[in-house]
Amino acid sequence: MTIDGPAGAGKSTVARRLAERLGFLYLDTGAMYRALAYKALEHSVDPGSEGDVLALLMNSVIELVPDGVLLDGEFLGPRIRSPEVDRAVSRVAQLPKVRLELVARQRAISEARDVVMDGRDTGTFVLPGADVKFFLTASLDERVARRRAEMQGRGFAVDPRALEAEMLERDRLDQERTVGPLAAAPDAMVVDTTGMEIEDVVEWLYAATRRRLASIRS
Ligand code: CDP
Repeated sequence: MTIDGPAGAGKSTVARRLAERLGFLYLDTGAMYRALAYKALEHSVDPGSEGDVLALLMNSVIELVPDGVLLDGEFLGPRIRSPEVDRAVSRVAQLPKVRLELVARQRAISEARDVVMDGRDTGTFVLPGADVKFFLTASLDERVARRRAEMQGRGFAVDPRALEAEMLERDRLDQERTVGPLAAAPDAMVVDTTGMEIEDVVEWLYAATRRRLASIRS
């Protein structure tokens, strides 16, 4: 199952809770791009250089664990969600060869288990044959407000104007790239979560998933 959508649409919280309820593995593809962007920054590698970032990736072990990501065995925790990583990650994610390598790793993980995968291209590109696909959206104001609350909760001071500009820029880069752009798959259910509480979104998607799985399996 796949959940895609722009930044701040609530995907990761929803995907994590849904995976728990369904007994599926939660696979946060964004955390993989973020871990790589973090490593590029740590090693002073230009996040726009395909050769250098790919070389870094080929020498990296990125493991998703229930509460985050391990990079070469080290738990990164909230470091992958810093404003610096926010600014670098969509540049790393533009690089076609880097995407193809990460997508191959994502597919390999999902071969062994039922997964809830969240990202930008999981329904269109990583798992085009997934049984259930959602695309979550919300108004820009609401996405900025959710992101701001999340960043403040982690102790980062945020200027809403700067945050909005950063999110719009990331959405633009994510939509315009050639490999795996942000897009709803033709067979995805599009859910506008503006004004909805996260718990209600989880309930709605859970019910829709059960219905869909029952119709496929009957
Ligand atoms: O949490 P948020 O929605 O802001 O972002 P994320 O899911 O952690 O992803 C961070 C960035 O990684 C996105 O803005 C994309 O540039 C990139 N990404 C991607 O290109 N493809 C994916 N499947 C997942 C993330």
